[in-house]
Amino acid sequence: MAVLKILVPLIVGLCAYYFYKSETFSPEKVRGKRVLVTGSSTGIGEQIAYEFARMGANIVVTARRENVLEKVVQKCLELGASSAGYVGADMSNLTSAQKVIEETKNKLGGLDYLVLNHVGGVSGLEKFRGNMEIVKSSITVNFLSYVQLTSSALHMLQESEGSIIVISSMAGRIGSPFITAYSAAKFALEGFFSGLRNEMRLRKINLAITVAVLGYIDTEHALQEVSNKMTLEPSSKEECAQKIVQGGVLRHREVIYPYWSQKIVLLLRDWMPDLVDYLVGKSYKVENIP
Ligand SMILES: NC(=O)c1ccc[n+]([C@@H]2O[C@H](COP(=O)([O-])OP(=O)(O)OC[C@H]3O[C@@H](n4cnc5c(N)ncnc54)[C@H](OP(=O)(O)O)[C@@H]3O)[C@@H](O)[C@H]2O)c1
Repeated sequence: MAVLKILVPLIVGLCAYYFYKSETFSPEKVRGKRVLVTGSSTGIGEQIAYEFARMGANIVVTARRENVLEKVVQKCLELGASSAGYVGADMSNLTSAQKVIEETKNKLGGLDYLVLNHVGGVSGLEKFRGNMEIVKSSITVNFLSYVQLTSSALHMLQESEGSIIVISSMAGRIGSPFITAYSAAKFALEGFFSGLRNEMRLRKINLAITVAVLGYIDTEHALQEVSNKMTLEPSSKEECAQKIVQGGVLRHREVIYPYWSQKIVLLLRDWMPDLVDYLVGKSYKVENIP
């Protein structure tokens, strides 16, 4: 009985705190904000740019293919962006990553949201045969360039008390076969950005870091690479982008999409790792992987 007397008020108190604390999302929060989205010529990054555009943000998109970025800029303006521009850059070169931030500063005068989304340097699902070049290129494009962009933009983000939105993957939480170099880069991202979030908190710097942990999403590239090699059903890139932007604007530490199917696996991960490995293994058609 004594335990109940403590437990019940504690649970009620925690629930009240949770609901009091949970803000509702308002697109008005985003109007006029300055946003840079990397890897935004296609896929989830392109959709994230459109989400911010609908809410009237000032947007800079970046990727390698400038002719595709021009079209994304045009569509951002049609959807309602306050302004839109692009910077062409290859993230396998860290000096280019630095220049993207300089050009963004010239275009926007500052930065409120840095969305780190690009992915490259890996060639889809394949068996690891000891090729170090693939590992190096994945770590450079999918990890080091994220850190370089953050480090170059940090001053602007601290000034605006802004946000970094980092696009990660289930492969950054659970070691994933046939994409080992990609998985390693995503684990590194999770380590770096959760450490940085904690450091910012201790230094009393108001900079939000949202990590998006994604499952299989129906981007053109992912469907092309994965559809005949996995048994999973992909989720929608449009809804995925919406959830990422909402979580980022509300300064949540994490966005998991699709939620329940990933969350259950994450909860099982520490207690039943062998079961999780078994479930992960069941999602691959190993015979189709080169
Ligand atoms: N789709 C999924 O199933 C899935 C699952 C989990 C996590 N994610 C994560 O979600 C994010 C977006 O994935 P996505 O499926 O939308 O990818 P995507 O469709 O392949 O798009 C990748 C983007 O990155 C750009 N890019 C590639 N290499 C680059 C380089 N060297 N320098 C600069 N930009 C480069 C591409 O544009 P250019 O070719 O024009 O450079 C493109 O805009 C990634 O971080 C990925 O890890 C995706």
